[in-house]
Amino acid sequence: MQVAIDGPASAGKSTVAKIIAKKLSFVYIDTGAMYRACTVIARNHHLDYGDEEGILKAIDEDGIELRSENGEQKVYSAGKDISLEIRTPEISANVSQVSALPKIREKMVALQRKMAGETNVIMDGRDIGTTVLPNAEVKIFLVASARSRAERRMLDFQERGIETDQSVEEIEKDIAERDYKDSHRAISPLKKADDAIEIDTTNLTIDQVVDTILEKIKKNQKKLTK
Ligand code: CDP
Ligand code: CDP
Repeated sequence: MQVAIDGPASAGKSTVAKIIAKKLSFVYIDTGAMYRACTVIARNHHLDYGDEEGILKAIDEDGIELRSENGEQKVYSAGKDISLEIRTPEISANVSQVSALPKIREKMVALQRKMAGETNVIMDGRDIGTTVLPNAEVKIFLVASARSRAERRMLDFQERGIETDQSVEEIEKDIAERDYKDSHRAISPLKKADDAIEIDTTNLTIDQVVDTILEKIKKNQKKLTK
């Protein structure tokens, strides 16, 4: 079974996807982490964030690997754990430019489809339901107000130990800018798939969102075994 979770920044995609993956023993794939890793690689190679060919070559040299360590998702590149680095405000501010490059998307989508392979998978991102896994049995589109997403992101920084001098207002502005860029790019923009179920998480707890999605998955599993 394939479960696709899309939505704007900080809507809770990775949080709920991880919990569901654990509960159902599905493989979890964080596609945003892959585009963030591309951005870290571009920066490490001192490349312009629009230098498509240069970034492609650098990705080939350094590689991107998602690993699960003690139940935690880690991102490695060039033999180094870059899991914290990919979340810094500098990378967040530039990732939308890198992720809009057609050849970078082509490469990441091919990798994502390969990783999804034959296993049960839950994948989160922006274009999973529309492009990466168009035949996913369950498609969810998570949304929440920009302010609550910024507040969540601030808390998330504190919990992960990422230092930031940004205010909630600044984070909200950054998130809104990134959503705008992600929704307006030419190739596979952030968009709800026609057959996706939209859930507004603004006033929901994580458990409520998880339970709603689990219900949809179980209904579908029943349909598949009939
Ligand atoms: O965690 P957050 O929602 O802030 O973002 P993310 O899921 O880590 O994704 C970071 C960025 O990668 C997004 O803003 C998009 O520019 C890009 N992305 C994408 O283009 N397509 C995806 N399937 C996933 C992420
Ligand atoms: O992956 P995405 O960027 O969509 O969001 P995330 O990284 O899962 O971040 C969402 C943050 O909001 C996490 O710190 C969650 O604990 C929190 N949160 C949530 O995900 N869902 C709720 N209903 C309430 C809070």
